[in-house]
Amino acid sequence: MNQIVEQIEQYKKEIETLSIADAKDLEEYRIKWLGTKGIVKSLMGEMKNVAVEDKKAFGLIMNEFKQFAESRYDTAKEAGGATQEKKSSGIDSSLPGENLPLGSRHPISLMRNKMVEIFARLGFSVADGPEIEDDFHNFTALNLPEHHPARDMQDTFYIQQNPDWLLRTHTSNVQIHEMEKGKLPLRIVMPGRVYRNETVSARSHCFFHQIEGLYIDENVSFADLKQTLYFFVQEMYGKNIQVRFRPSYFPFTEPSAEMDIECLLCRGAGCSVCKRTGWLEILGCGMIHPNVLQNCGIDSEKYTGFAFGMGIERPTLQKYGISDIRLFSENDVRFLKQFTSAI
Ligand code: DAH
Repeated sequence: MNQIVEQIEQYKKEIETLSIADAKDLEEYRIKWLGTKGIVKSLMGEMKNVAVEDKKAFGLIMNEFKQFAESRYDTAKEAGGATQEKKSSGIDSSLPGENLPLGSRHPISLMRNKMVEIFARLGFSVADGPEIEDDFHNFTALNLPEHHPARDMQDTFYIQQNPDWLLRTHTSNVQIHEMEKGKLPLRIVMPGRVYRNETVSARSHCFFHQIEGLYIDENVSFADLKQTLYFFVQEMYGKNIQVRFRPSYFPFTEPSAEMDIECLLCRGAGCSVCKRTGWLEILGCGMIHPNVLQNCGIDSEKYTGFAFGMGIERPTLQKYGISDIRLFSENDVRFLKQFTSAI
């Protein structure tokens, strides 16, 4: 009896270390251990040689061994013939899963979303337009006819094959597309990327982002423009922010203005960020020039409107204290993953 028990222990060890790599191994295993002439059966046959008083104990040991041999077969079959080693070095499905790394929004997107969200509260919806544009929508329709000196202010990238096509220099092109649709009143903001042939440095880049605003209806006045922008800066920078309008010139607006806010860093005292002026210019704006309305088939006697255009990079640099605009487009995850929550 003891001898057989020892033998069974031996067999168990053999089974444990066996490798069952494929269907052929599996079948061989079945025949050797579980078949009609297999080891399990032949051990069962030993029952007749066991002393009567040991028969019960032997029966229990044999049953347990039989189950052991069978379960090894079953698990190998389930794993599609995978080896014991492979299984043990494989997946432990009881372990907690690893968290997938969560991406984060780009700081420019965070700022754009915040801006859009503030204007949305005033009833502005979002419109989109092309970055590859024709001369008409980027310039001519905006009251910048050919040879207009203001075209030189914006160093344009032209498409080589066809100089009528260019990379838009501002988001104002979307104004034209939206007006052409002929649906009034219009109350939209138009965020997007723009391109200018400028030397890349810490402070300027050959592509950057703007958000354009447009409101056209009957009886829209400059007071509406001011109130809209006051609301915006107060929501964006706080209720006590100082602002000023300066008269300016844009071909597509008349009158035109630029809006400054007090320097966020020195609060008006004068520092290097505001070039000692105490003010930061944040946007250009004005009442839409009647020529622009007419270029888009809108009756300029009946309708008036205002427009504004604002850069997104600069407020983002200020918001986060970033000193180099090139970081925005270098795709360095160590930089990008720092911006986790909405503004
Ligand atoms: N397009 C101008 C620029 O890129 C910004 C601008 C000024 C947009 C006045 C406007 C506006 O809509 O009314 O510098």
